[in-house]
Amino acid sequence: MHKPYSDRNSPDANHASGEKFVLAHLSDPHIACESPVQKRDLLNKRLLGYLKWRLFRKRAHRDEILSILREDLKTTAPDHIAVTGDLTHLGLPAEFRKAQLWLQSLGSPDQVTVVPGNHDAYVRSDWNETFAWWLDYMVSDRPDRQGTRISGLDDLFPTLRVRGRIALIGVCSARPSAPHLAIGTVGDPQLHRLETVLKQTAAQGLFRIMAIHHPPLPGIESWRRSLTDAHSLRTLVARCGVELILHGHLEKAAHHTLDTPSGRTTVVGATSASSSSLAYERRARYYVFSLMASENAWDVHMAQRVYSPDARCFIPGKEQHYQVYTPGTQRSTLQATARFNPQQKGAF
Ligand SMILES: [Fe+2]
Repeated sequence: MHKPYSDRNSPDANHASGEKFVLAHLSDPHIACESPVQKRDLLNKRLLGYLKWRLFRKRAHRDEILSILREDLKTTAPDHIAVTGDLTHLGLPAEFRKAQLWLQSLGSPDQVTVVPGNHDAYVRSDWNETFAWWLDYMVSDRPDRQGTRISGLDDLFPTLRVRGRIALIGVCSARPSAPHLAIGTVGDPQLHRLETVLKQTAAQGLFRIMAIHHPPLPGIESWRRSLTDAHSLRTLVARCGVELILHGHLEKAAHHTLDTPSGRTTVVGATSASSSSLAYERRARYYVFSLMASENAWDVHMAQRVYSPDARCFIPGKEQHYQVYTPGTQRSTLQATARFNPQQKGAF
């Protein structure tokens, strides 16, 4: 298996105080297949999605940009990569297999963590023909239900992968929904298990990163594209805390905050990694987070890599540096300094 990055991201790596952990976050590659789609595959919600893809989205997402992004990742050399959903367009078995090959080109399952998006769960589908192909990229380090057969997303999430002092917590918001809807739901059983994971990882003093497809924020999406139980998830975050939230789905760069017991946590939304949009805030991009623990806090440096249609490569975008005080520390202020390139416009 191709292993392009350093072995610093071994699950056993010790990211002690002063040692840096680099995480890349990308989202919504919308990998589609050029091969003809079977008529039987379109006798449902997929028909509308297929027509939309033929009319608009085929030109809006380009595999070529994903290849350029993969080359750029070799220069940023992250320890780990988080992919926050919508890897496919219609959730077709052929798209799942193509996306699996793309994941393998990014790194091994130990190096890449995936959560699904609404496009991946477009309609109810056969587990073995779809999500089973990505299982190694989604599953927890030590599945809670060892010995039980995983045959659905509900058996899997939330997931927990620990890399040194970093906890990568995967939350699934992907559910099949009616035509014209792109909603997501976490669901009470998953929220209940998530509370346990958040409390355990806080007690271990880990820097907790939550990866979810739908943004858990109010008022930034229409109801038909929203997370239906976002309020419950925000309430849980307000009670148990989390140090960083990564999402996709918006397809434009987004940067918000949510209140937690130890201060405000940053919520970052990535654009589509394959976007061919010329509008700056919708251009393909990915985020590079450099996390370093000090005695009482974490130094976080966040930098964008943004696709330049002219240069046909990824170039540096906006950067931000701030500190996060984890539970147990007295100070709870988010201190941020940002370096913005005046040539670049748009939301963070
Ligand atoms: Fe989505």
